[in-house]
Amino acid sequence: KAAFGKVWDKDSSSRNLIPRLQKVRKNYLAMNKYNVTYNGKRSAKLSPEKLLCQLRDRVNVTMIQRSDGPFGTSEWQQYLPGKSLSETVGHLGRCAVVSSAGSLKSSRLGHEIDSHDAVLRFNGAPVRGFQDDVGQKTTIRLVNSQWYRKPDYNFFESYKAYRRTHPEQPFYILNPKMQWQLWDILQENSLEHIQPNPPSSGMLGIVLMMTLCDQVDVYEFLPSKRQTDICHYYQKFHDHACTMGAYHPLLFEKNLVKHMNQGTDEDIYTHGKVTLPGFRQVQC
Ligand code: C5P
Repeated sequence: KAAFGKVWDKDSSSRNLIPRLQKVRKNYLAMNKYNVTYNGKRSAKLSPEKLLCQLRDRVNVTMIQRSDGPFGTSEWQQYLPGKSLSETVGHLGRCAVVSSAGSLKSSRLGHEIDSHDAVLRFNGAPVRGFQDDVGQKTTIRLVNSQWYRKPDYNFFESYKAYRRTHPEQPFYILNPKMQWQLWDILQENSLEHIQPNPPSSGMLGIVLMMTLCDQVDVYEFLPSKRQTDICHYYQKFHDHACTMGAYHPLLFEKNLVKHMNQGTDEDIYTHGKVTLPGFRQVQC
């Protein structure tokens, strides 16, 4: 008899979403904003071992470098960091990825999160005032292109401006190919059509840390017993879509992460914690 409640089902289907989110998903499928064409299969998930190998071998986690096509100009040389991200952070052992989910509130996971060698956080997620629940260590912050005064379409000028004012801070641009390589693997391992939009920052951060670390503990990506419609632990805003996905194929990302989890269901239930191996530990 299980001493804990139900956790995320790795075969969750969009049919079980609330009607509004089913409709949103259908609209994104029809809109196909990025002209995604997909001719591959849609099938039951590969074994966790094979999936880890596919992720390791097919998702190129790289940052834009000085040698990359349009960034080869003399003007860009001064902006892109000289060292690669893996050179900057070195080989990492145990890492934590902290989703910004509302269910982190009152979790008291701070000590456990800070016990890791490196901690990844997202966008503007604060630590001040929330240390007991989310810890205080931040090694890497993954930010989306809306972060710097919402400049989605003026991203490069904003990046340059930030680099001029914070030249000492290693600040990289994730190679955008990565998200589509990851999208293909998400689609191949789902029975339904997934939203033809980039994976969420959460999923990108998980795969990024799998390239840098020996072990990755992910907190409150798969919701614990504290699951809530409060979007972020640091805001009052409510939206079921934050946990289940609307724009992002988040439901399918969570199915895949549950499938690869090497930890226990009890850890998911009590700590919202999933444990994944780093790619260096994966044998194919
Ligand atoms: O909202 P933001 O993108 O900054 O949150 C970081 C990531 O955490 C999301 O991309 C998503 O993967 C995850 N998240 C979640 N459930 C929430 C809020 C965030 O899974 N309620």
